[in-house]
Amino acid sequence: MTEFDKTLRIRVDYNNMLTTSVGEYGIDPAALDAMRLEMEAALEGVNAKHSELRWRKLHTSERANLDSIRQTAEWVRNSCECFVVLGIGGSALGPIALHQALCHLHHNELPRAKRNAPKLYVEDNIDPERMCALLDVIDLDRTIFNVITKSGSTSETMSQLLIITRLLLDRYGEDGLKEHIIATTDKEKGNLIGIARQYGLRTFIVPDGVGGRFSELCPVGLLPACVCGADIEKLLDGAAFMDELCSAEDVMKNPALVCAALEVLAMRSGANISVLMPYADSLKFMADWYAQLWAESLGKKKQEAGRVIRFGQTPVKALGVTDQHSQVQIYTDGPFDKTITFLRVERYRCEYVIPHSFDAIPSVAFLSGHTLNELITAECMATEHAVTVSGHMNKTICIPEVNEFTIGQLIMLFELQTAFAGELLGIDAFDQPGVEEGKNAAYALLGKQGYDDKLKELKNAAAKESRFII
Ligand code: PA5
Repeated sequence: MTEFDKTLRIRVDYNNMLTTSVGEYGIDPAALDAMRLEMEAALEGVNAKHSELRWRKLHTSERANLDSIRQTAEWVRNSCECFVVLGIGGSALGPIALHQALCHLHHNELPRAKRNAPKLYVEDNIDPERMCALLDVIDLDRTIFNVITKSGSTSETMSQLLIITRLLLDRYGEDGLKEHIIATTDKEKGNLIGIARQYGLRTFIVPDGVGGRFSELCPVGLLPACVCGADIEKLLDGAAFMDELCSAEDVMKNPALVCAALEVLAMRSGANISVLMPYADSLKFMADWYAQLWAESLGKKKQEAGRVIRFGQTPVKALGVTDQHSQVQIYTDGPFDKTITFLRVERYRCEYVIPHSFDAIPSVAFLSGHTLNELITAECMATEHAVTVSGHMNKTICIPEVNEFTIGQLIMLFELQTAFAGELLGIDAFDQPGVEEGKNAAYALLGKQGYDDKLKELKNAAAKESRFII
């Protein structure tokens, strides 16, 4: 077993979730204690699902692919100026989050010599203006596309692929495709794998038992991260370390399980909103990735005793300190319907001293001599305090610094928290039937074969609703 750098362990401080800290709208510590048996069953339940939950062991299984990912990344770095990911949902949010966390915050704007990697674009929408805008800024000759779709058939991604393929075929003929497209998909399901084989594309496989939102630590996230220069082995190390911590048999020492239990208790008391507020621009898109993970996994309904019960918390993304000036008012004085998770960074990757420029104005001059690091940390602590004294449940995940090892931990912490929460709630956290319904309706509207009944249903609904348009 690898010796992990324990000084880089991320920690969860959940004092402020409890009544002892926030008062009557918190969780009674006795209620958490009383969950011990449920938590033990959840631990056992998740541990027993080895074959279904293959994402949990990607930190081990993906080591075998590191060399080929690195070789392909090297080829990409040497061959192009732009690397474009085509994907959506879990096939895009992971690459975006890793890029923002592990690269220069203005990666694409840096001169090539300082970047040592191509520019990265992750195209996760089918807005025609966005496609036109992309084609305006890339040079096809110097661009490699990574089309990522686990199912191999998602309409959004496939329509992007159709567009890009046509452009490439028209310019280079069939041989050009393998020089410009890398496929990341399931080994047999869907259409992409067949296309990849037909045209001899470089191909990476999303393993079985790894759903889109749990796929960040397989080639979905690893290849784009490696292209941009991240140490992908350290990502896996971080995930392995957190997996080890979250396998603790004493459930009260298991960070993901304690977080899951707290959120479930909060949900049971009506807190149906989950805010994630990182105090670091580098973690801004981890909040987007978390939002999908938490919403799509836990937003479920099931029949129990003849009635429908609905589960889940609506995720809200906030950024410290930016959103102190837009959202924090409702986190302090608004209703007790939410939990807030702060991500606090202990060491930023650079330091900036605020200089002395207006010493004659004391109400500005007090800032001079401090660092921006001190300022953002003070504001994070101050917001935690303000939210706590106003009685709102909150917890803080302390991250020693943002790097591959800590991001690997964070990913695994949130993934396991989600799996444990699903188990505690008694729902399937790994499907997304509501998303499928929308996909089917879109197929019907676009005339896909086999969706005639769905089209009728949509037409009937449209006829009814049109009476109320003003
Ligand atoms: O988590 C999920 O499974 C989904 O959000 C998918 O990632 C999303 O629908 C895209 O699917 P695919 O990767 O199959 O194109």
